[in-house]
Amino acid sequence: MKIKNLGNQGLKASELGLGCMGMSEFYGEKNDEESIKTIHKAFDLGVTFFDTADMYGPYVNEKLVGKAIAPFRKEITLATKFGIVRDSENPKNRGVNGRPEYVKSSVEGSLKRLNVEVIDLYYLHRKDPDTPIEETIGAMSDLVKEGKIRGIGVSELNAETLRKAHATYPVSALQTEYSLWSRDPEDDIIPTCKELGIAFVAYSPLGRGFLTGQIKKFEDLEVDDYRRFSPRFVGDNFEKNIELVKKIESIAREKDCTPAQLALAWVMAQGDHIFPIPGTKRVKYLEENVKAVDVHLSQKDLEQIEEIFPKNAAAGTRYPEAFMKSVNL
Ligand SMILES: NC(=O)c1ccc[n+]([C@@H]2O[C@H](COP(=O)([O-])OP(=O)(O)OC[C@H]3O[C@@H](n4cnc5c(N)ncnc54)[C@H](OP(=O)(O)O)[C@@H]3O)[C@@H](O)[C@H]2O)c1
Repeated sequence: MKIKNLGNQGLKASELGLGCMGMSEFYGEKNDEESIKTIHKAFDLGVTFFDTADMYGPYVNEKLVGKAIAPFRKEITLATKFGIVRDSENPKNRGVNGRPEYVKSSVEGSLKRLNVEVIDLYYLHRKDPDTPIEETIGAMSDLVKEGKIRGIGVSELNAETLRKAHATYPVSALQTEYSLWSRDPEDDIIPTCKELGIAFVAYSPLGRGFLTGQIKKFEDLEVDDYRRFSPRFVGDNFEKNIELVKKIESIAREKDCTPAQLALAWVMAQGDHIFPIPGTKRVKYLEENVKAVDVHLSQKDLEQIEEIFPKNAAAGTRYPEAFMKSVNL
């Protein structure tokens, strides 16, 4: 596992990270004991980049991650996010807040729950449509000066807003969804990150599990699983998308790897500044996923993949309509 510069502002991270969201919410049953084992195993296997957010759980995922990383806290890059506002009593209601006073109060909550003195990478999770990006980033830059965070991250910004953010204070990383079935960032976000020396962190690189081939039918998802409400997992879209996964499975067989490894190797092959953060709460999947760093795709392999799984091949949008309004702002 290689350690690389995560952007140009002094942070470093393993080429593959671990997404911790699903350990507490969205993707079926929780198992804290197995989740902690997964985080420890990741570190043993060279992963030094861990991703959480205050809204996962809500709030409990940061506590879990903070507890698990405590033995090796100084050796890793810990990322969390703020800006999506949820109420523990009524978690389905969501808002977005990027006002300076909210930035300052949020960081205190995250530091406490993670039980750390400093957050390595602090992301704005979604842009607040009512607050200019300069004001939010300005407040985040105060946190760097105060030693509460080491680097600034942003999530789901468009290229124009990213430029404004970076002009306010240098951004270390931008995070958005990127995988074989979510390729919009190729148009301008990935090149803009490259140009500005910003790391591109690819979230949901396994297509929320779909690209692994392990989700065979809608009923495989538990009744409260978030994916039951995601357009790509529903009805005809599910059936169409399964056909794409079958093609991935056949290439993976040829390459002697699993579909999950192929999907991750493909993301890594798209640029040296791209860091996928696959999520899992299971040691077994983690062990499989980290081996993706040993899968090398030739130009010919990439062309073959492009042919069978072209851009925009997936059926359905990547979020339900209401959530699509808060991305790419
Ligand atoms: N910035 C944002 O708005 C945003 C949004 C979404 C996610 N994220 C971050 O990105 C991270 C990764 O994204 P994600 O978790 O949404 O999606 P993902 O990494 O594409 O997929 C995660 C799902 O795939 C399953 N899985 C993982 N490895 C597998 C394998 N080898 N074989 C079969 N199934 C496998 C996991 O199962 P189990 O759950 O059973 O382990 C989980 O259900 C999150 O954890 C979170 O930290 C950020």
